[in-house]
Amino acid sequence: MSANPDHRCPVLDPTARAAHAEAAGLRARGPAVWVELPGGVRAWSITRHAVIRALTTDPRVSRDFRRHWPGFADLPEGWPPAPVAFQQGFVNTYGEEHRRRRARVAPSFAPRRVERMRPQVQATADRLIDVLAAVPPGEPVDIRAALALPLTMTVICDLLGVPEPLRPRLGHAIDAIVDTGVEPAEAVARGLELRARLVELLHHKQQYPGADLTSDLLAPVEPDREHGAAPATEQELLDALFLMLGAGYETSVNLITNALSELLARPEHIERLRTTAVDWDDIIEEALRHQGPVTYLPLRYAIEDIDLGEGVVIRRGEPIMIAFGAAGRDPELHPDDPDLFDPTRADKAHLAFGYGPHFCLGAHLARLETRIALTTLFDRLPHLALAHPEQPPPPIASLMINGLTRLDIVPTPLAVAG
Ligand code: HEM
Repeated sequence: MSANPDHRCPVLDPTARAAHAEAAGLRARGPAVWVELPGGVRAWSITRHAVIRALTTDPRVSRDFRRHWPGFADLPEGWPPAPVAFQQGFVNTYGEEHRRRRARVAPSFAPRRVERMRPQVQATADRLIDVLAAVPPGEPVDIRAALALPLTMTVICDLLGVPEPLRPRLGHAIDAIVDTGVEPAEAVARGLELRARLVELLHHKQQYPGADLTSDLLAPVEPDREHGAAPATEQELLDALFLMLGAGYETSVNLITNALSELLARPEHIERLRTTAVDWDDIIEEALRHQGPVTYLPLRYAIEDIDLGEGVVIRRGEPIMIAFGAAGRDPELHPDDPDLFDPTRADKAHLAFGYGPHFCLGAHLARLETRIALTTLFDRLPHLALAHPEQPPPPIASLMINGLTRLDIVPTPLAVAG
């Protein structure tokens, strides 16, 4: 664990009840601020846009905990963020190894390949919204459970070729590991459960390969002449699956839900969509800026001392938490009311998908599925409203994910709207 020279080290609230206010307080204190994570682990929190850009592209900063975090060995067992922070997928590799392992899956996420998924995503959205359209007028529906979650889960499971019977158990196992408020023994049990489900998927695909990314990953590869790379080990394959399922599903479900929550709370923007004063892309980019689905993604490590100015030096071996969700609300970047959801603002710059060599591989896919979900929903049910506008739903208790546990809306089909 890292020594903490700051006696006023704030403890990050693992239940995320006021995550934006917490980030604003840290941002005002300096370019990097020591914070305490669950289990007494301490790390530097980075909430300023410019500093996030600098550190995510700085070769003196690594995501490889084995090579670059001496404190890793002292961690308590069952540390709740461990399954995400210490996953062995390429997100936690550094330099050439990262480039090589990312390159194996990157082609599947290129814009043209993602575009080919459009008909399938649209068909899934249509099927789910057919069910919503049949709900009796005035009856509330949790749109997270009824649309955002099954759509994003289906898309990522289709991409990876997950067989139908395994999907609910896999979804449940992934949900369980982003909860950073659990006891250590429970965190270990949840990690093992997820691993078991991923092994089940891999073994199924070894027996029944198909036209999917898991089967592509399993296929024997020509030795990589350029880098001399060996085929992936079973562990590397499990890690790649975990990375893509975790990163691809827990995030997009919250982008759809957060965008809907903001939009329905300010119906004047729905009117602007009708008059084409704003476009759906404006809504999606503003939702990413204002309610980015990733709060923090632990961890990074300083390979050398890094002087950030203002008297702050991150020492070699110290852990760093990048607050991707906070960057879009930095008043240095958006001096004009950064905490307001305003899709009409000209500049909606954000770092919701990260920055630098680890920039999100799934950004095109996330934007595609969110756009299809929102446009199809409003085309079919244009008179949507929040069921409980005075009572915001509770946030997901996570330091990593910014989202709502549910979002009750009242769908009113066009034919019966007043
Ligand atoms: C709204 C939805 C999404 C958001 C907000 C999001 C956010 C992020 C962020 C912030 C990172 C950077 C991690 C870092 O630098 O520490 C990242 C990386 C990544 N994302 Fe996403 N993501 C989303 C959807 C997806 C989807 C749909 C996939 C597809 C499977 C995906 C796959 C990945 C992968 C594989 C990485 C690791 C890239 C690397 O380390 O080279 N993401 N994502």
